[in-house]
Amino acid sequence: MSQENIMTINNVTKMFGGIRALNKVNVEVKKGEILGLIGPNGSGKTTLFNVISGFYPATEGTIEFKGENITNLSPHKIARKGIGRTFQIVRPFGDMTVIDNVLVSGLFSGKMGVKQCRDILKTTRLIEREGDLAEMLNLAEKRRLEIARALALSPEILLLDETMAGLTHTEVDESLKMISGIRNEFGLTIILVEHVMRAIMAVSERILVLSEGTKIAEGSPKEVSENEQVLTAYLGRRV
Ligand SMILES: Nc1ncnc2c1ncn2[C@@H]1O[C@H](COP(=O)(O)OP(=O)(O)O)[C@@H](O)[C@H]1O
Ligand SMILES: [Mg+2]
Repeated sequence: MSQENIMTINNVTKMFGGIRALNKVNVEVKKGEILGLIGPNGSGKTTLFNVISGFYPATEGTIEFKGENITNLSPHKIARKGIGRTFQIVRPFGDMTVIDNVLVSGLFSGKMGVKQCRDILKTTRLIEREGDLAEMLNLAEKRRLEIARALALSPEILLLDETMAGLTHTEVDESLKMISGIRNEFGLTIILVEHVMRAIMAVSERILVLSEGTKIAEGSPKEVSENEQVLTAYLGRRV
């Protein structure tokens, strides 16, 4: 991990009517890091991904990617600039084969041929299922296919939203290995939202904690897990 920033989230607020889903959030994302994003349910994690990737406009604040202001560009433009994401709810095209799912996604980037797509399927351990219909995959495989589809856009930053939810202990461990592998192999920067605490603590170099839309802590997994305010947020008590 270098100390160079790849993305700066600057004072971002997101209102939904009267709900302050994000409250003046500031984050410097370092190139090549795995940054964990945690917080209780409803704390704004998915909203932050939606604002970064252009699905929701920010109410206030800016997002800079490689020195360029990308705030409120369309999701399509942001994806093309190199920010890929998965969705909390899996949504591959069920009636297409695994390889076609990745190829279709890659078409939009214009950089992916069959060979590159097959390399992605190797990395995400789906190569043996390349000819099967996506709807035949089990949950763990569908989640890996979501990641494969995001990788087909050759992103520089990958936003992963709860890609381990509902997986078994063994599947979580395999997923962790895969995520580190992706970072190392493709030199990506990864921001990871995950409820499986053991998993996010194991794989992230830094952790950011949201509570009710506000950043309440940032630091190493150890620092964050010993932080009083973080423990309080998770226990649901008032500070
Ligand atoms: N599209 C939306 N419309 C209205 N409120 C929303 C919308 N998306 C999220 N919210 C609200 O914003 C807050 C943060 O939600 P979310 O970002 O999904 O939390 P998390 O991913 O941390 O569980 C919640 O109060 C949620 O109800
Ligand atoms: Mg969420």
